[in-house]
Amino acid sequence: MKLLITGAGGLYGSKLAQLALERGFEVYSSDIQAQSVYGKSVKLDVSVKAEVNDVFRTVKPDVVVHAATLTDVDKCELNKHLAWAVNVDGTKNIVEASKNAESFLIYISTDYVFSGEKGYYVESDSPEPVNYYGLTKLEAETVVMQNLAESDFLIARPSVIYGSTPAAGKVNFALWLIETLRKGERVKVVTDQWNTPTLNTNLAEMTLEVIERRLTGLYHLCGATRVSRYEFAKKIAETFELDKSLIDKASSAQFAWPAKRPTDSSLDTSLAQRILQYKPLTLDEALERLKAELSQKKA
Ligand SMILES: NC(=O)c1ccc[n+]([C@@H]2O[C@H](COP(=O)([O-])OP(=O)(O)OC[C@H]3O[C@@H](n4cnc5c(N)ncnc54)[C@H](OP(=O)(O)O)[C@@H]3O)[C@@H](O)[C@H]2O)c1
Repeated sequence: MKLLITGAGGLYGSKLAQLALERGFEVYSSDIQAQSVYGKSVKLDVSVKAEVNDVFRTVKPDVVVHAATLTDVDKCELNKHLAWAVNVDGTKNIVEASKNAESFLIYISTDYVFSGEKGYYVESDSPEPVNYYGLTKLEAETVVMQNLAESDFLIARPSVIYGSTPAAGKVNFALWLIETLRKGERVKVVTDQWNTPTLNTNLAEMTLEVIERRLTGLYHLCGATRVSRYEFAKKIAETFELDKSLIDKASSAQFAWPAKRPTDSSLDTSLAQRILQYKPLTLDEALERLKAELSQKKA
């Protein structure tokens, strides 16, 4: 099966490409910088329609996982034009090309489509983003839903992705915290933002099941445990036997972020728990997995 991944140089896309190759997929890893080490590397800027059409003409993918996104929430707030071009127009290009090629599309969305006033959101809850990143991701969901037949797509919403390898030149929260605490440096972590953190490996495995079973619709595919960022940090420190006392409590008001963050955008994973064989992992399970992956890398 030919699998085209957009944003394949990123934290999630690179893990998906790695696992898909292991499962025998023919993997085309596309990214704006053609930086993937897994599968056939393809340079693709999703916001350029002609490039998207060329790649689809050449690859003729059976399945497309569209993860290419301007993920920097503050950059989206400050450069709305770019955020719209990549996140919305880019998705329009991918949707149109998928339709023409009769490919099955998985669109990777986010918990940030929600306002964060309630928490434990289910798939049927009404989205109401509080920042421009969330707005563009919600608009992209609408583009997918309005232009493809129900049998031809699935929208997956993860939440705070982390993993064992730096990707797209960025270190994710878990790796950053482990490195910083190992150096004995103090960190400030907010107590007033809640999510359901998602190990990239767990999300990639759930995605592959979606592809293999051709599941459709809207799913919250993320970790099973709701935690504040501070609790997440403490759990990481405990799992990796690092000094928890270096973690100081902070509130969001102490940070002058250009983009507002939802307070509690945690997602309810009951649907995925019921339907999938690869379940959303609890935080303890996922952190043990992260630890195993990191020690495998060292060996
Ligand atoms: N990370 C999270 O905490 C989180 C939480 C919820 C949902 N999500 C969603 O999960 C998906 C994957 O996120 P991730 O953490 O893997 O993100 P990531 O590491 O930032 O990867 C995204 C990739 O897309 C690339 N990209 C940016 N603009 C592009 C363009 N115009 N054309 C093609 N590629 C482009 C990026 O390249 P550059 O790095 O060069 O820009 C990067 O390699 C995204 O859809 C994101 O919205 C992420």
